[in-house]
Amino acid sequence: MASSSSEAVCVTGGNGFIGSWLVKTLLERGYTRVHVSVYPGSDASHLFSLPGASSATLAVFEADILDAGAVARAVENCKGVFHVASPCTLEDPEDPQAELVLPAVQGTLNVLQAAARFGARRVVLTSSISAMVPNPGWPSHKVFDETSWTDLDYCKSRQKWYPVSKTLAEKAAWDFAEKNGLDVVAIHPATCLGPLLQPGLNASCAVLLNLLQGSKDTQEYHWLGAVHVKDVAKAQVLLFETPAASGRYLCTNGIYQFSDFADRISKLFPHFPVHRFSGETQPGLKDCKDAAKRLIDLGLVFVPVEDAVQETVESLKARGFLKQEETSQSS
Ligand SMILES: NC(=O)c1ccc[n+]([C@@H]2O[C@H](COP(=O)([O-])OP(=O)(O)OC[C@H]3O[C@@H](n4cnc5c(N)ncnc54)[C@H](OP(=O)(O)O)[C@@H]3O)[C@@H](O)[C@H]2O)c1
Repeated sequence: MASSSSEAVCVTGGNGFIGSWLVKTLLERGYTRVHVSVYPGSDASHLFSLPGASSATLAVFEADILDAGAVARAVENCKGVFHVASPCTLEDPEDPQAELVLPAVQGTLNVLQAAARFGARRVVLTSSISAMVPNPGWPSHKVFDETSWTDLDYCKSRQKWYPVSKTLAEKAAWDFAEKNGLDVVAIHPATCLGPLLQPGLNASCAVLLNLLQGSKDTQEYHWLGAVHVKDVAKAQVLLFETPAASGRYLCTNGIYQFSDFADRISKLFPHFPVHRFSGETQPGLKDCKDAAKRLIDLGLVFVPVEDAVQETVESLKARGFLKQEETSQSS
């Protein structure tokens, strides 16, 4: 499956945080026909400022991911489909089924159905560490890997609907792929950081923003580690371009406690009131530097998380989401 950059590919949710970086990466790699599906009325104008972007290389399709016909129009003629669109919020939804679960699951099925119908060679599904954890049945001495699945009953009993939505969506995808002979590969990014290409603030950069502003949220259910969004985009393209790739790929620059991350942020930004957590924020989580072994083995080299953090902070400041300097609680 040698990739040809003149083949059309489709990125759903291509104007979001990860989606915009994926479009940027595809253009940089010389892809000349990139279809981008966006929620109807959603702003995609920033994509046309990317190097290599023009009305010849980018085609924007308005498609609610729940509208199978609109999704099909975006996917038609594409040999590769990168499914990224899915509600990404850690806020408690009022109607979890309608706001999170349905768009995640039915949206994925609509994309896969279109990919199968138009003969796409491969679908790269953007799953999440949230389809791997929380999994309280996982042995505490064992490093999390791609064989772990989120415990749905545990999440439902705690009203943690985002992991439920990502887990059900991925399970539906594997089921569809098996029944329809469709080539699907899944990537499981941890908390993604890096410069915002899109105008709005996304949920994972908001985790860092909140931490810098003194949040005491432990991210107990939503954390394994962090990764530069540019590495996620590179990995997505790598998974499309590597014929032998298959199954699930954890994408994180290490596994460690959120409390360790907060300590590192506090040292990097001593003028911000970063909370220092005592004890484990993810009870029993075992550290591992090279947790994304499957991607490392494919040749992916991860950017240091400190770089991702610095670049996120600069971007948050430049966009006005973060004031230039906060006063530390201790000062
Ligand atoms: N960021 C992370 O740390 C992280 C980690 C692991 C996995 N992921 C996954 O990566 C994907 C992208 O997340 P992100 O961080 O880039 O967040 P994001 O910026 O919020 O992107 C989500 C995208 O999905 C679109 N979308 C949501 N509901 C839709 C619908 N019903 N119809 C059409 N489009 C819809 C959004 O469009 P609008 O903005 O116009 O609504 C947006 O373009 C998601 O699947 C998420 O689960 C993210």
